[in-house]
Amino acid sequence: MEYRNAVICGDCLDVMKQLERDSIACCITDPPYNYEFIGREWDETEIRRRLERVKDSKSTLVKHIPYGSGLAGGVRNPRWYDRNRQNLLDYQSWAEQWGRELLRVLKPGGLALVFNGSRTAAHIQVALEHAGFYARDILVWRRNSGIPKGLNVSKKLEKMGDVHAQEWSGWHSCLRSGWEAIVVVQKPLMNNYIETLTRFHVGLFQARDDNGFQSNIIEPIQKEGLDDFNTHPTVKPLKLMEKLVKLTVPKGYGNIVMDPFAGSGTTLLAAQNLGIDYLGIEINPEYAQISKKRLQRAQIP
Ligand SMILES: C[S@@+](CC[C@H](N)C(=O)[O-])C[C@H]1O[C@@H](n2cnc3c(N)ncnc32)[C@H](O)[C@@H]1O
Repeated sequence: MEYRNAVICGDCLDVMKQLERDSIACCITDPPYNYEFIGREWDETEIRRRLERVKDSKSTLVKHIPYGSGLAGGVRNPRWYDRNRQNLLDYQSWAEQWGRELLRVLKPGGLALVFNGSRTAAHIQVALEHAGFYARDILVWRRNSGIPKGLNVSKKLEKMGDVHAQEWSGWHSCLRSGWEAIVVVQKPLMNNYIETLTRFHVGLFQARDDNGFQSNIIEPIQKEGLDDFNTHPTVKPLKLMEKLVKLTVPKGYGNIVMDPFAGSGTTLLAAQNLGIDYLGIEINPEYAQISKKRLQRAQIP
């Protein structure tokens, strides 16, 4: 089945099974970073459950930081570590499952760019290598908005009435998060870059732009304001997604860029803006609708 310029509502694992082998030029995607969701429906109930958990906390809700990630303090006992390890392994094997399907549908030499947190990106890379990809890079998307999360030790001690609390001023359980990872993997080439390019029109980076040669560090990109109907909690900046599409997908040649975790459709909108065909898959019907609306709106002159 060939879908082009469409948003399909469903589990990407099932939907990708319906797609032709070697039919997709590139995958740019932002899957849930949170490994704790495995075995739970990724729907409104789940999102509400998470919001409830941090309702009374003074800290900002960071939706993609897993509970149990160790960032928020709490008890560390062997049970906690066992659960944490198991969650991470479940996340990795889930990524390997969709990675296998992704490998099948990508053209030879097709690139996959997968967002992830700095702590979990390594698992995504290994999962996709196990699925048959080979690792090319991890791009650093620098963000200047990172706020310190985790345990502020002196504050905590102060609350506990410890008279030495100030001695620990500045000590924290983690660093300020200043970047997100974009794991770059590639489906094996057809013999070499030239044969892959001439037969499949993929496999390389458009690395030159007005600012020179693109490095593997992407400098901060301002988020634009959201449409009022876009209630998705983790929308990526459109300019960032346009940059990634330009970097990896030659325009024309029937090339399709796919986002199997489309959310509110930012990758798809980026592709549409650049005149490149897209395919989005999103499990949550509400988000699938939002992305359709964004795509339609952008077409109106
Ligand atoms: C981090 S969000 C993507 C946000 C997107 N980058 C944007 O700018 O709107 C990940 C999305 O993956 C969806 N999702 C989770 N599991 C899925 C699955 N198995 N198949 C398809 N979509 C899934 C979630 O509903 C969520 O909207």
